[in-house]
Amino acid sequence: MEKILVTGAVGQIGSELTMALRERFGSNNVVAGGRKTKPSPELRDSGPFEIVDCTDAAAVAKTVEKHKIDAIYHLAAILSAVAEANPQLAWKVNIDGLYNVLEVAREHKCAVFVPSSIGAFGPSTPPDGTPQDTIQRPNTMYGVTKVAGELLCDYYHKRFGVDTRGVRYPGIISNVTLPGGGTTDYAVEIFYEAIKQGKYTCCLKAGTKLDMMYMPDAIKAAIDLMEADPARLKHRNAFNVTAMSFDPEEIAAEVKKLVPNFTMTYDVDPVRQAIADSWPNYMDDGAAREEWGWNPEYDLTTMAKDMIEVLSKKLA
Ligand code: SER
Repeated sequence: MEKILVTGAVGQIGSELTMALRERFGSNNVVAGGRKTKPSPELRDSGPFEIVDCTDAAAVAKTVEKHKIDAIYHLAAILSAVAEANPQLAWKVNIDGLYNVLEVAREHKCAVFVPSSIGAFGPSTPPDGTPQDTIQRPNTMYGVTKVAGELLCDYYHKRFGVDTRGVRYPGIISNVTLPGGGTTDYAVEIFYEAIKQGKYTCCLKAGTKLDMMYMPDAIKAAIDLMEADPARLKHRNAFNVTAMSFDPEEIAAEVKKLVPNFTMTYDVDPVRQAIADSWPNYMDDGAAREEWGWNPEYDLTTMAKDMIEVLSKKLA
């Protein structure tokens, strides 16, 4: 049975992806790698857990050797708003960390899944129906690291034969672990605040359309791509994937259907607004659909319904 390491396993995507992989491949075959944040008891007690800082190449190598890892889901990364506040840290984690993981993967013949992002696009990218292959001149440190990461993964496949694969995730909406400082976080917070307070102050302007996806689909994307027939993959790294696109008004209207007294006001954060304005309104994910059968399950309505149901119980 394949042995898997998840870096960033305590993060928003990692915490749920690790559990999904454990369910599928057996708990003992999936090592959760976290840095300093404490894992939930569920994550810690359901399978192996290791402290792995991806900026420490020796620590990554040691974990891969110890557990005889075959595939790495490399999720440890700094998100966009935090990256703008601390660009040096973003470079260190998103680039040096990725380089360390790719080098270990090359030496130990591991497959690697690396998420890129809508942040790999910039103001000169066509914003509507953003093609798979198009202009990528991001003006954020997050975007710079994501484009460089896509190219590095392509290079490691071409030059060293490392089985690298990846998607450009949109904003991910989830209800287990909060996101850690992205531009799309508002689409998660709105649900928590709707249930706790009945109101929410949004940091992005009305009309700011962005691609989004519910966590079950984000997990499905990662696993389906890693299991796809390599002969069908023309792009390998950085497939556009999306499930829905909305602006703050549209998600607020959806929340209001489920929490009738809900109200939203705005207090725009210029940093996040500038980042959001440089990203696509909606991407064309035709290549992912064609090359590995990508097909998301949740749209805005079904996602919102599930979020409210799950969080109403969790926050009760
Ligand atoms: N959710 C991410 C962010 O906002 C996008 O990749 O940073």
